[in-house]
Amino acid sequence: GNSPTGCPISSQAAAFNPFEGPYQVDPGDALRWARENEPVFYSPEIGYWVVTRYEDVKAVFRDNILFSPAIALEKITPAPPEAMDILKKYGFDMRRTMVNEDEPDHMARRRLLLDDFLPENLAKHEPAVRKLARQYMDRFIERGEAELISEFFYEIPLTIALHFLGVPDEGAEQLRQFAVAHTLNTWGRPTPEEQLKITEKVGRFWKTANDILDDMIANPDGEGWMYETVRQHFKHPDIVTESYMRSMMMAILAAAHETTSNASANALWTLLNNRDAWDELCENPSLIPSAVEECLRVAGSIVAWRRITTDDTEINGVGIPKGGKLLIVQASANKDDRYWENPDEIDIYRDNAVDHMTFGYGAHQCMGKNIGRMEMRIFLEEFTRRLPHLRLLPGQSFENLPNTSFRGPDKLFVEWDPAQNPEKHDP
Ligand code: HEM
Repeated sequence: GNSPTGCPISSQAAAFNPFEGPYQVDPGDALRWARENEPVFYSPEIGYWVVTRYEDVKAVFRDNILFSPAIALEKITPAPPEAMDILKKYGFDMRRTMVNEDEPDHMARRRLLLDDFLPENLAKHEPAVRKLARQYMDRFIERGEAELISEFFYEIPLTIALHFLGVPDEGAEQLRQFAVAHTLNTWGRPTPEEQLKITEKVGRFWKTANDILDDMIANPDGEGWMYETVRQHFKHPDIVTESYMRSMMMAILAAAHETTSNASANALWTLLNNRDAWDELCENPSLIPSAVEECLRVAGSIVAWRRITTDDTEINGVGIPKGGKLLIVQASANKDDRYWENPDEIDIYRDNAVDHMTFGYGAHQCMGKNIGRMEMRIFLEEFTRRLPHLRLLPGQSFENLPNTSFRGPDKLFVEWDPAQNPEKHDP
């Protein structure tokens, strides 16, 4: 077959399927062939051009005019017609949010809503993260085993996210189901029957988010970023529009915690599988911030993102027509040996690890990156200090939700000998 521009499609490009097989397990590894032989290729399975090399991924992120983020939250698997009726029932009206907004609106809004995300305004959340990490760990530290997703990594980022946004922290389990449905709905390949079940949850997610927002609009004096957004909407209704505020609410409820839960669990998994690195961190916790970046490079929680071309263009010599859809694979950029020395090695001393593409790059770069980093650092500080003898339960492997973009384990079993807990000897 040929691509839409008439170019022949190689057998590897034809076989590429981002919903199963090697790409699910390790997208950076799975695209090694492409980085070598066909760094930009058309995938008939999804109807996207796939961009795999570091410099190309960065160049696409950098130019958000030619490479618009408008399709960042588009359903990669179109919905069956019945799904529309379900969504209507819930008043679903998701339009642009920040992450898929074009200029000039995007920057005007981002500027108005940036303050709470600045490092000096995030520091006040650090004691709460530390306190929760200690409390949750207290519950299992004498037990000698734990399943860390349900007992640690899921709830703490969720609680912090809700606190940051100003949302009452009830219904954690429900929000978890909503976030999973949102991921599969947007980035997954559900069957038509699965689509309808997922759509039902997405509809409920929309309604729940908007009920919360209605309470905030009625009482806009509260603390937290969503309250701030509501107040900015009152001050600048033409910039922070009502539709924007409503769409943002649902999107941020997922973006603000799922990403951090997954990245934290991926980091612990990576380090415990690289025992020398783990032992060095236990010896020297000042290495933790650079280890966080290295883990985000090799095991980030977002592995691919999307853009659409607004004009005919070329990437690395490959012609792409206006309206061409791009899957830009950050996990592949993060393993590109044209940029990184020994990219397959976990090196907590790597001095350029922070150049990873996991938070995106340019005008849309993740606003919450310093919240994510802070949480990951504190979790690793607490685990290395209190459970340096922690091990992964042998023989476990995990499956990711089948989707193009989000990666994280659904279960993470660990064990240790409580008699060896350092605080027993040095409380
Ligand atoms: C955007 C990743 C945590 C809020 C993004 C983007 C990525 C990303 C890839 C798109 C970047 C682009 O288009 O260039 C991550 C990862 C996280 C994380 C890997 C955790 C490790 C968070 C948290 C929050 C957050 C904790 C909020 C509390 C946002 C927002 C945007 C964004 C508001 C849109 C920015 C814009 O379009 O201007 N994130 N994120 N993220 N993220 Fe995050």
